[in-house]
Amino acid sequence: MEVGHIFPSILLVGLVLLQVNADLGEDRQALLEFVKKLPHSRSLNWKESSPVCNNWTGVTCNEDRSRVIAVRLPGVGFQGSIPPSTLSRLSALQVLSLRSNGITGGFPDDFFNLKNLSFLYLQYNKLSGPLPANFSVWHNLTIVNLSNNRFNGSIPSSFLNLTRLAALNLANNSLSGEIPDLNLPSLQQLNLSNNNFTGSIPMSLRRFPNSVFAGNNIPFESSPPVSPVLAPSTVPSPNSRNARGLSEAAVLGIIIAASILGLVAFVFLIIVYCSRKKSKEDEYSAKFQKGGMSPEKVVSRTQDANNRLTFFEGCSYAFDLEDLLRASAEVLGKGTFGMAYKAVLEDATTVVVKRLKEVNVGKRDFEQQMEVVGSIKHENVVELKAFYYSKDEKLMVYDYYSQGSVSAMLHGKRGGDRIPLDWETRMRIAIGAARGIARIHTENAGKFVHGNIKSSNIFLNSQRYGCVSDLGLSTIMSPLAPPISRAAGYRAPEVTDTRKAAQPSDVYSFGVVLLELLTGKSPIHTTGGDEIIHLVRWVHSVVREEWTAEVFDVELMRYPNIEEEMVEMLQIAMSCVVRMPDQRPKMSDVVKMIENVRQPETENQPSSGKGSESSTPPPPAMGRES
Ligand SMILES: *[C@@H]1O[C@H](CO)[C@@H](O)[C@H](O)[C@H]1NC(C)=O
Ligand SMILES: *[C@@H]1O[C@H](CO)[C@@H](O)[C@H](O)[C@H]1NC(C)=O
Ligand SMILES: *[C@@H]1O[C@H](CO)[C@@H](O)[C@H](O)[C@H]1NC(C)=O
Ligand SMILES: *[C@@H]1O[C@H](CO)[C@@H](O)[C@H](O)[C@H]1NC(C)=O
Ligand SMILES: *[C@@H]1O[C@H](CO)[C@@H](O)[C@H](O)[C@H]1NC(C)=O
Ligand SMILES: *[C@@H]1O[C@H](CO)[C@@H](O)[C@H](O)[C@H]1NC(C)=O
Ligand SMILES: *[C@@H]1O[C@H](CO)[C@@H](O)[C@H](O)[C@H]1NC(C)=O
Ligand SMILES: *[C@@H]1O[C@H](CO)[C@@H](O)[C@H](O)[C@H]1NC(C)=O
Ligand SMILES: *[C@@H]1O[C@H](CO)[C@@H](O)[C@H](O)[C@H]1NC(C)=O
Ligand SMILES: *[C@@H]1O[C@H](CO)[C@@H](O)[C@H](O)[C@H]1NC(C)=O
Repeated sequence: MEVGHIFPSILLVGLVLLQVNADLGEDRQALLEFVKKLPHSRSLNWKESSPVCNNWTGVTCNEDRSRVIAVRLPGVGFQGSIPPSTLSRLSALQVLSLRSNGITGGFPDDFFNLKNLSFLYLQYNKLSGPLPANFSVWHNLTIVNLSNNRFNGSIPSSFLNLTRLAALNLANNSLSGEIPDLNLPSLQQLNLSNNNFTGSIPMSLRRFPNSVFAGNNIPFESSPPVSPVLAPSTVPSPNSRNARGLSEAAVLGIIIAASILGLVAFVFLIIVYCSRKKSKEDEYSAKFQKGGMSPEKVVSRTQDANNRLTFFEGCSYAFDLEDLLRASAEVLGKGTFGMAYKAVLEDATTVVVKRLKEVNVGKRDFEQQMEVVGSIKHENVVELKAFYYSKDEKLMVYDYYSQGSVSAMLHGKRGGDRIPLDWETRMRIAIGAARGIARIHTENAGKFVHGNIKSSNIFLNSQRYGCVSDLGLSTIMSPLAPPISRAAGYRAPEVTDTRKAAQPSDVYSFGVVLLELLTGKSPIHTTGGDEIIHLVRWVHSVVREEWTAEVFDVELMRYPNIEEEMVEMLQIAMSCVVRMPDQRPKMSDVVKMIENVRQPETENQPSSGKGSESSTPPPPAMGRES
């Protein structure tokens, strides 16, 4: 009886699955044909054997992983025209970015099959010919960037039908004719500069600043001054959510920009890099055209020019240095080795960028060290995604953790939106961080050193276990003078030169982090007066006087039955911070000791890789729409 019921439903499930796989299989085939037919200089990790979704560089799938919805391949070094009937078969595609490549030919006719396309980035290519007359079939187009190409002809009137269009950039092409009266209420950003437009500025577009129309044969009337970046939308739109969101963002932007001077430096860098990169690229393509170099050489050099950010294998991000430097950036803080910024890319991917100061080694040594760091994939080690090395600038790119560091969680302003860290979480932080450091210590034949363990370099992974960051830098940086800084509170007494940090000194620093978790106190802090207190010495003195209970963070007092565990953890911490390096336990032993105290509740099987995967920001979505 039962079997009779089950069988058809299995069949049904099977059929549904087949359908899903068929669509995804079709998408995969289309993508493979696309890269096979279009020469490119940077290799892509698109292997037949690996899953398309969340594995192939630049490819994003929908939630149930049945269709490809975004393809982002900036700066891959594509040369030639887009092969017909390849990308156009990705019928569920919503985001397409092929910018900063060398794509030639006309606007692909068959893109009209991409009915759901909402974001189109084709800037910085060599596309030519007219813009398609049929633009209006893409009702959903929200951002269109075709700037810095060689399109000619006029703007087709079908643009008038793009009611959702929020940003249109056609700058630096050879477009001509009159500018149509684009009365699009949701249009927030426009740039038509450096074309060959004639006539006058239509009424509906006078709300934009003159710079938008510069470099054309258009006379400027003296128009009322408007905001230089975002034009206020004069036409109240029915769904003005978009408009309000943007102007709020603009106000915020101004406040942030005004208050954070560091940003100015960053923006300056952006400009320097963009212009440098462009001129380099031009140089290469000029060489290529003259045929002055063997093709192979050109390929490797263009690769160098395009792909100056070095990504690690398996990284699913797709952006180039230009994107990164153009991204909106926010200072996160000043670390031991330089400033850290939060960068939000055009597609809403959020990453942390560290600018290293005072790197003390040459390019080869730096790269070697980065290769080791980047090869460590562990759920308790923050993954290094990419790095960049030039004479003047050294950058590292990490995942962004929105909750902030353990230091912020412990020592952030009380009262504000800081939630007290419960004991369970503190245990998980300790276990996770210990496992991460133990993993790091197995690298380089068991000699690799983290070198900068402190609570501001520990984050929570998706399972809320500790996860360590900023490893392997101390040996390649100039030695730091030992000031009375936060970092000094973590430094083992034997470490006089930061480059000579060793595994036992990592154990010491970890012990200080444990004490921080137990006491809720910073490693170096002042009491009421000017007296500077070293956490390790303070704990020693309190414990020696048998006031053990006084040591613990008052915030922990509310949790019942944890006293014993706290005392055991205190003992482990104390064994890590003993004075003689050779008397400290090995990190692998520390892991066992902490696991012996207790397996934190609901701990799953150590699931490899999961942590770093879900700690990546949510799929860079169509965020701009809402
Ligand atoms: C387009 O998107 C909508 C929802 O966003 C979806 O229902 C529809 O199936 C998509 N079309 C295609 C061809 O994938
Ligand atoms: C446009 O997007 C909406 C959801 O955002 C979707 O429902 C609709 O199918 C899309 N339109 C087209 C023509 O695909
Ligand atoms: C315009 O779109 C229609 C269908 O929407 C199609 O039949 C026609 O070929 C397209 N024209 C051009 C020039 O792409
Ligand atoms: C656009 O450029 C092509 C050559 O690239 C030329 O044949 C065509 O006439 C131009 N069209 C316009 C409208 O200038
Ligand atoms: C705009 O869309 C309407 C209906 O969808 C169509 O009749 C009209 O021809 C389109 N206008 C242009 C300029 O494409
Ligand atoms: C389009 O690309 C240009 C050049 O890369 C960039 O400056 C501009 O911000 C982009 N505009 C939009 C709306 O994405
Ligand atoms: C157009 O090109 C000029 C010079 O190459 C550049 O300065 C400008 O930023 C470009 N405009 C846009 C919108 O990309
Ligand atoms: C711009 O248009 C004028 C005629 O209107 C033409 O003489 C000139 O060659 C065009 N310039 C470019 C760069 O296309
Ligand atoms: C438009 O692009 C030009 C350079 O091509 C730039 O100078 C101008 O500031 C841009 N305008 C806006 C509003 O982005
Ligand atoms: C991609 O797939 C390959 C082979 O299946 C695997 O080795 C690799 O770890 C995967 N990368 C990611 C980011 O999932």
